[in-house]
Amino acid sequence: MRIDILTIFPKMFAPVLGESIVKRAQAKGKVEIFIHDLRDYTADKHRKVDDRPFGGGSGMVMRPEPIFRAIEWITKNEKRKTENCNSKLKTGKPKIILLTPQGKTLTQKLAKKISKYNHLILICGHYEGVDERVRQRLVDEEISIGDYVLTGGELPAMVLVDSLVRLIPGVLGDKNSLNFESFEGNLLEYSHYTRPATFRGMKVPEILLSGDHKKIEKWRKQEALLKTKKRRPDLLRAVL
Ligand code: ADE
Repeated sequence: MRIDILTIFPKMFAPVLGESIVKRAQAKGKVEIFIHDLRDYTADKHRKVDDRPFGGGSGMVMRPEPIFRAIEWITKNEKRKTENCNSKLKTGKPKIILLTPQGKTLTQKLAKKISKYNHLILICGHYEGVDERVRQRLVDEEISIGDYVLTGGELPAMVLVDSLVRLIPGVLGDKNSLNFESFEGNLLEYSHYTRPATFRGMKVPEILLSGDHKKIEKWRKQEALLKTKKRRPDLLRAVL
């Protein structure tokens, strides 16, 4: 998978995407992530990425031109603007996603669907919003990471990338770890325990020490069901 991210805060990404599983996935060649500074795609000497809204009102609006130019550069490889953005992958038409609180809420189901694409372009929105013509002409899908408003689309883009990268085959070491996690089959995950068997008077459920794998599996299923019923009955109602 190739992911291009358009942002006015390019430095925000390395500390997050340069660590842990996403870092390893890039090193293994499972995903290529390119960060594009939208200011590099401006045509004026002040490198202006925003402007006042037509019709008046508060706040600034992200200008369409740098976004159009960045996407044209990415899709046609017109003229090299950003260092180290030469992809080794041959990808088809990219899916262009705008991160915005107005978008469809990100769920595990949506992450799975998006993880099937081999090229994504993520646009991190800012200010009061993005010029509507970006939506009209470029954007395929708008995604929100929840019903709250952040200062920009950078953190949401990183959340989306993290949720996608771990779904790419071969990224997580243990094949089973994807099958038993929260939201699989609309259930939350069962409880986990590790050594010691008794910690500050708290005991690990006896069954987990029994070595009877059939019984353990049954207990875990039951646990997941009870936990979901208690905490997220909405998930259970969705499958009934
Ligand atoms: N930009 C600001 N808030 C956001 C949110 N909740 N999801 C996606 N993009 C955003």
